[in-house]
Amino acid sequence: MASTDPPALQQNISLPGDGLDAARMPGHWLLARLGKRVLRPGGVELTRWMLDALAVDPEDRVVELAAGLGATGRLTLARRPATYTAVDRDPAAVATLSTLTGPGPTEVRAVRSDAAATGLPDGGATVVYGEAMLTMQPEPAKRRVVREARRLLDDSTGRYAIHELCLLPDGLAPALAERITADLRDAIHVGARPLTPTGWSELLADEGFTVTAQKTAPMALLEPRRLVDDEGLIPALRIAVRALRDPAALRRVVHMRRVFRRHSAHLGAISLIAVPTPAPSQP
Ligand SMILES: C[S@@+](CC[C@H](N)C(=O)[O-])C[C@H]1O[C@@H](n2cnc3c(N)ncnc32)[C@H](O)[C@@H]1O
Repeated sequence: MASTDPPALQQNISLPGDGLDAARMPGHWLLARLGKRVLRPGGVELTRWMLDALAVDPEDRVVELAAGLGATGRLTLARRPATYTAVDRDPAAVATLSTLTGPGPTEVRAVRSDAAATGLPDGGATVVYGEAMLTMQPEPAKRRVVREARRLLDDSTGRYAIHELCLLPDGLAPALAERITADLRDAIHVGARPLTPTGWSELLADEGFTVTAQKTAPMALLEPRRLVDDEGLIPALRIAVRALRDPAALRRVVHMRRVFRRHSAHLGAISLIAVPTPAPSQP
């Protein structure tokens, strides 16, 4: 059966986190090492909703922040935008992203930079989105990334989308939110700081956006059904076999899944679509 991996991985370009200890490395790179390519909480289904809501078309100039291994990049390229720029701070991710090509005439670029300071031109994009990346930033960095997205977007035609972890419901007791955050950090070895749906909306509003649509989905990243939906049956079985053969990786996956399950009533995935808020007209 043909490999579903992107060309870079078939060519054995190294993966982010190669050489790191499975017991300590960031959870998303551990999952990537096992063969997982969809590394965001709402899976491909919520990503497809996000791309449909963004209505990417051949006129669009798209910037993806923290594009990872390019799984969403490939879905975006299938929509044949005019340009697609993938940004990530991880050099191995950028090496993978730089092998992306579209089925159409899209001009494709991969840029290594912080999503909060991409160096890309003001107003040069009509679509900016990022998935599973704001959650891992501390509060000031979350704001800087959203502000950067606003700077990149064209004032009149711009659309912005995020796809992140969220805490449920709005008004969750702060002590419980703190415990969930600590358990997540412990399991995925990355500072995870999800917000409630209102918290995410307020963050975007504070940085110059008006939210136009929102969708939530269960956080089921490591549930068998979602694994098969996201990766396909054979790749999902390969991921399971690789985990079973690697005791340190298996312990980490079991720990992550246990934490996701323990807090399943209060953890979800969320995608928000937003447009630049018009500047108030001068009297
Ligand atoms: C959980 S992975 C998600 C990758 C991809 N968006 C996806 O959904 O499959 C997080 C990605 O964010 C990138 N990242 C995290 N913080 C970043 C930042 N401040 N600037 C650029 N990339 C960042 C990491 O290098 C990694 O590729």
